[in-house]
Amino acid sequence: MNILIIGAGGFIGSNLSEEILERKKEWNITAIDISDAKISHLLNKDKFNFIKADIIKETEIVDDALKNCDVVLPLAAIASPLTYVQDPMRVFELDFEANLRIVKQAAKLKKRVIFPSTSEVYGMCSDEAFDEYNSNCVTGPICKQRWIYSCSKQMLDRVIFALGIRDNLQYTLFRPFNWIGPRLDDINNPNNGSSRVVTQFLSNILHGKNLKLVDGGAQIRCFTYISDGVDALIKIIENKNGCANQEIFNVGNPYNELSIKDLAYKIKELAKSYSRTKTFAEAAKIEEINSSEYYGKSYQDVNRRVPSIANAKEKLDWIPQVNMDELLKRTMDFYFK
Ligand code: NAD
Ligand code: UGA
Repeated sequence: MNILIIGAGGFIGSNLSEEILERKKEWNITAIDISDAKISHLLNKDKFNFIKADIIKETEIVDDALKNCDVVLPLAAIASPLTYVQDPMRVFELDFEANLRIVKQAAKLKKRVIFPSTSEVYGMCSDEAFDEYNSNCVTGPICKQRWIYSCSKQMLDRVIFALGIRDNLQYTLFRPFNWIGPRLDDINNPNNGSSRVVTQFLSNILHGKNLKLVDGGAQIRCFTYISDGVDALIKIIENKNGCANQEIFNVGNPYNELSIKDLAYKIKELAKSYSRTKTFAEAAKIEEINSSEYYGKSYQDVNRRVPSIANAKEKLDWIPQVNMDELLKRTMDFYFK
């Protein structure tokens, strides 16, 4: 099978590529990204064909690669809340417009699309657990620009769903719920908001900075270790007996539910056991900060985000394996050892 991974140089793309090269020797990967910084160790693999390209400016390269693949994963996007608030149009142009073009081209060429939706599509939904086929998508006022990412992804979900009906586009939508692991973000960037929360806290400690609890840190997230996410993706790509066809899957770990405040104290405690961060971890304070100060006034938050994974369990025979302590240990071993 010929797999096209656009954004293969990123967190999910690099981990997925690594696992496919390890486990699926009969699959070929064509990888497109503007950066190979996180995949330099894969460039010499004979089943991994990397093409450096900007999917916004070099559309002909993308279209050529689409013609030669069986399935495409358009992973290239901006997935950082600070950017949603500070540069919403850049999020729209890449996450929506550039990916809309790819999805429509794939439909025209009759290629299967496996699209990275997001848990953010549910927004501030009040359901106990978010369900792919029953939960509402609840976003805030237009002035809260954080939601441009959620709406970009939701609109693509809706376009793909519609193309599935009108043009019989073969697709699967997957919704990662806070996937965490090696190469998530660059923790050498000490600026607040430069990373997602786990890597942000690791970065704070590494640079001797305090950990900030935005609006008090009572927000709840469910964190998923990258190996569980990649296992689900490989099952989706395999698509045994068409189990993933025209499906939407939450890919998250409801058993790893905790508040950001509890996360901060956990990370501070665990960081004391690494020689590189022991001193800083002992000194680091955990303090509160207002979201408008931390992100800006057009930020709005998701207070509780818990996935129902019944669909993935039933159709993919998938269940997450890595608990929160193990998730943090493996991630901190990668960044701190
Ligand atoms: P990432 O930022 O690590 O990777 C994105 C990749 O896209 C990067 O390697 C970047 O170089 C590349 N890219 C950006 N602009 C490009 C361009 N113009 N041309 C070519 N390549 C370009 O992100 P990620 O965490 O791996 O997320 C991958 C996808 O999954 C995204 O669509 C994201 O919205 C989605 N997602 C991720 C998570 C998560 O927990 N990480 C959660 C929900 C959804
Ligand atoms: C993230 C991003 O939108 C995407 O990577 C992805 O689509 C989404 O997760 C997902 O998994 O689907 P979010 O979880 O809000 O969304 O992003 P984080 O930056 O990881 O923040 C998580 C929580 O921690 C937020 O409530 C944030 O305010 C808080 N936070 C973050 C702090 O309290 N302190 C910090 O230093 C950083």
